[in-house]
Amino acid sequence: MFAFRQQGARFLRKRFLSTNTDFRRVTLIAGDGIGPEISAAVRKIFAAANVPIEWDPVDVTPVKTPDGKTTVPQAVLDSVHRNKIGLKGPLATPIGKGHVSLNLTLRRVFNLYANVRPCQSLKGLTTLYDDVNLVTIRENTEGEYSGIEHAVVDGVVQSIKLITRAASLRVAEFAFEYARANDRRQVTAVHKANIMRLSDGLFLQCCREMSEKYSDVKYEESLLDTLCLAMVQDPTQFDVLVMPNLYGDILSDLCAGLVGGLGVTPSGNIGKDGVAIFEAVHGTAPDIAGRDMANPTALLLSGVMMLRHMGLTSQARQIEKATMETIANKETRTKDLGGEASCSQFTDSICSKLA
Ligand code: NAI
Repeated sequence: MFAFRQQGARFLRKRFLSTNTDFRRVTLIAGDGIGPEISAAVRKIFAAANVPIEWDPVDVTPVKTPDGKTTVPQAVLDSVHRNKIGLKGPLATPIGKGHVSLNLTLRRVFNLYANVRPCQSLKGLTTLYDDVNLVTIRENTEGEYSGIEHAVVDGVVQSIKLITRAASLRVAEFAFEYARANDRRQVTAVHKANIMRLSDGLFLQCCREMSEKYSDVKYEESLLDTLCLAMVQDPTQFDVLVMPNLYGDILSDLCAGLVGGLGVTPSGNIGKDGVAIFEAVHGTAPDIAGRDMANPTALLLSGVMMLRHMGLTSQARQIEKATMETIANKETRTKDLGGEASCSQFTDSICSKLA
């Protein structure tokens, strides 16, 4: 059964949320490429479901700081600080040059330390595997993405993987709390401590220490390579997976592929002080941008995760049901899911089920 309602909802609500049903302001970062199309779709669907949200749209065009670095505009920071909750479309990042990733900037600025990506088989959408129901929890602030890189001498560069006890314990605790709150039975720590003995060794040590406080949740460890093999052989054996940044980035995309691809996979970035930003896993899809071909499901289901995080469970359930019914009908599926429908037709089909 498709049940994003479980994913994070109870834990996140318990720990960070208000359940008030008054209109709440939510920061909306439409993003680049297909971002404006899919966020317009989400707004339309949320309006059809009478979701009590007032959007606070902000533009994330990068700006330069006085010392020449690139960052997000102050208005974005103010909006997220004010609202504490945001929905974000994809942002383009130049490869190997230009400004730093604005995604990374947002994660760092708001200390969004845990990236939660539920990966569940969608009812009505046939893929190679049935009954996949796992969650990847990725450390989001350091590891290989610490951004510490320099040239040692000409032709030799060094990139530093930073692992700290504080960040490792924090994400491990999140994973166990998440498992407990969502009636999940097992947490698996994913690592390469056989090679990166100090860095992954510390990460693993922190997971072990944390596991001792959660005797009701089974704890396992797996090497990343072994896990990848097992994942494509039988993904149904996994439950909650916790891992350092880079492994989580790669493994969560692999998991997206198991259940229908990037177009249908949501995520949430959970931070300190109650801040959370929900976003689709995919990028800006420049090849289809502006052509009314994008599948808005990933951003929509990220919005559904967000609604549960906010305690708006009945609207979340309604939108999820309408989305699954639309996906189950081949006629109303978008191209990436083997259908012929445009982004607008797909959106209208969901809205018609909410009316
Ligand atoms: P991508 O995810 O944008 O596209 C990969 C493939 O998936 C393309 O063929 C695209 O058409 C398809 N696709 C992605 N989302 C889709 C959707 N909703 N509906 C239908 N098809 C979809 O990855 P790519 O091309 O590597 O990256 C493009 C840009 O996006 C880069 O600048 C990258 O840095 C950025 N990016 C941003 C992310 C974020 O903001 N969270 C995440 C990943 C990439």
